[in-house]
Amino acid sequence: MLVTLKVKRFDPERNPSTWWSTFTLEAEPADRILDLLIRAKDEHDGSLTFRRSCGHGICGSCAVRVNGANRLACKTLIRELGSRITLEPLLGLRVEKDLVVDMDPFFAAFRSVKPYLISGDPLPGDGRERLQSPAERMRFDDSTKCILCAACTTACPVFWADDTYIGPAAIVAAHRFLFDSRDHGGAEHTAVLADAEGIWRCRTAFQCTTACPREIKVTKAIAEVKGAILRGISR
Ligand code: FES
Repeated sequence: MLVTLKVKRFDPERNPSTWWSTFTLEAEPADRILDLLIRAKDEHDGSLTFRRSCGHGICGSCAVRVNGANRLACKTLIRELGSRITLEPLLGLRVEKDLVVDMDPFFAAFRSVKPYLISGDPLPGDGRERLQSPAERMRFDDSTKCILCAACTTACPVFWADDTYIGPAAIVAAHRFLFDSRDHGGAEHTAVLADAEGIWRCRTAFQCTTACPREIKVTKAIAEVKGAILRGISR
């Protein structure tokens, strides 16, 4: 099949304004968006710029806006979209070039919730591991699936309006540790969430949940973190 791929372009060294490039490409229905991007770059315009690494939905680097919705370029097949495809960079983050956005503010928000185990407990007798029951592990299983692609945060209308809002991905990261029975750093994970740009800016738009390529129940996780904060950080 022939696919028309329209890509929003930006290169501050060539043009201070954005423009559109259109590529007509031969494709198979089972090809991915990423395959089309690679083909467009290899065969038509070597300056076309996009991010990707693993190619298998693990690293989170290839999230883009596909026909108006955030998707992973390496997990989205042409047959899901038809023959006319429009690609734009993620919204709410500064565009560096073409489909590449500046991820620094996103990762700064992620780091601000201290996304690592904080446990004051000494290691148990054998000094090797802190045991956890399967039920305790399942309590935060969903939020471990995050690949930090930013699809949720950049689908959030609150974030579009105010890029200092911490965003859903950082709250999911806080959830992952807040509900871990081995962690005792709840106050530290959630300190930043009480700020004016923290969790209470969420308006429950559900766009984050719709956008998540890992199907994490993001809105539910946010609600659970809000509840824990209201209860005084109890799980
Ligand atoms: S390239 Fe790694 S998630 Fe798409």
